[in-house]
Amino acid sequence: MLNNLSPQNPDPIMQLITLCREDPRETKIDLGVGVYKDGAGNTPVMRAIRAASKKVWDNETTKVYTGLPGDPAFGKAMRDLVLADSVEGSRVAAIATPGGTGAIRQAFELARKANPDVTVWTSNPTWPNHLAILKFMGLPNTEYAYFDEASCTVDFDAMMDSLQGVKAGDMVLLHGCCHNPTGANLTLEQFGTVADLIADKGALALVDIAYQGFGDGLEEDAAPTRLLASKLPEMLVAASCSKNFGVYRERVGCLMAISEDASITPNTQANMNYLNRIAFSFPPDHGARLVTTVLTDDALTADWKDELETVRLSMLGLRTQLSEELRQRTNSDRFDFIAQHRGMFSRIGATPEEVLKMREDFGIYMVSDSRMNIAGLNPTTVPLLAEAIAKSCK
Ligand code: LMR
Repeated sequence: MLNNLSPQNPDPIMQLITLCREDPRETKIDLGVGVYKDGAGNTPVMRAIRAASKKVWDNETTKVYTGLPGDPAFGKAMRDLVLADSVEGSRVAAIATPGGTGAIRQAFELARKANPDVTVWTSNPTWPNHLAILKFMGLPNTEYAYFDEASCTVDFDAMMDSLQGVKAGDMVLLHGCCHNPTGANLTLEQFGTVADLIADKGALALVDIAYQGFGDGLEEDAAPTRLLASKLPEMLVAASCSKNFGVYRERVGCLMAISEDASITPNTQANMNYLNRIAFSFPPDHGARLVTTVLTDDALTADWKDELETVRLSMLGLRTQLSEELRQRTNSDRFDFIAQHRGMFSRIGATPEEVLKMREDFGIYMVSDSRMNIAGLNPTTVPLLAEAIAKSCK
């Protein structure tokens, strides 16, 4: 029977990891998968997570199951981190999920359960796995205009134009901050305008927030999600702790659902619990417990924020350095957008052929849509990348 399985096209981001690993050149630069690396190319365990691991190790007395939504303390900690006081806690249901991807999958499942005819609107472009999951689930997907390839900025007018097609009962997926793959983001005011449109249309917003703290700061990055939560009667939020807590392989994510009224929350919660039950029963707990330990201990929270801020500022520094190097080499301001983009990624507007040329001639690995992971750079490799871009991109 298994010989009937159709061949799988590899995920472009996963494929790049293998290609880069197999490249013997010492000078290769990995700008593929969204993983933070320090100046020495390592992805460290954050100090507060290490301390939390010790605390959990010393104090944990059982590994018995939690509950279908995971530990409620995790849900509460994530609600505080992402939504703060933008919405009454009694309107928020939450489940722990295996990573942000798990939260996205459960969000799509929940939307389909609430409306079997839901169409999911995604930005053009979006994280390829959004589209892969939607396709696998057979959910109708419509793209809304987002990125202007020529200027590498958001084309907000085109976005608003295409969102006019949203119907009641549709779901609109927004990136809460640090848009993946482009790095180009809406202003807070523009988020407000989009929220008004979603409310007018009677649609459901799904905010994917996977990089809180990597853009303009922990609070600043949550501001659009909080604004939407304060304006919309209902909303879903898929949050990931992979990047901002550096707990990638632990798989820590959370789906939050805001119901219109607190009386609806228990049923929303029961439906979310059910979705966990049929998918994997209990969500993984260890990583979520580390995150909760950090977020419920003032000293650990302060240390985590401090380290996260260092990470954020190092990426901003690399952005500035790269755009300056490119200014000099191209004698133009064409790549100034790199300093304006926020988060881990920038899509630089190179063609797939140019991306391939950079890979073959310079050992630079970026996704074929020209998304690069800024955190894969360090001050020494920035000039090498600038040279490669200047020599390869018309
Ligand atoms: C990425 O976009 O590179 C990350 O979110 C990792 C992944 O799972 O694709």
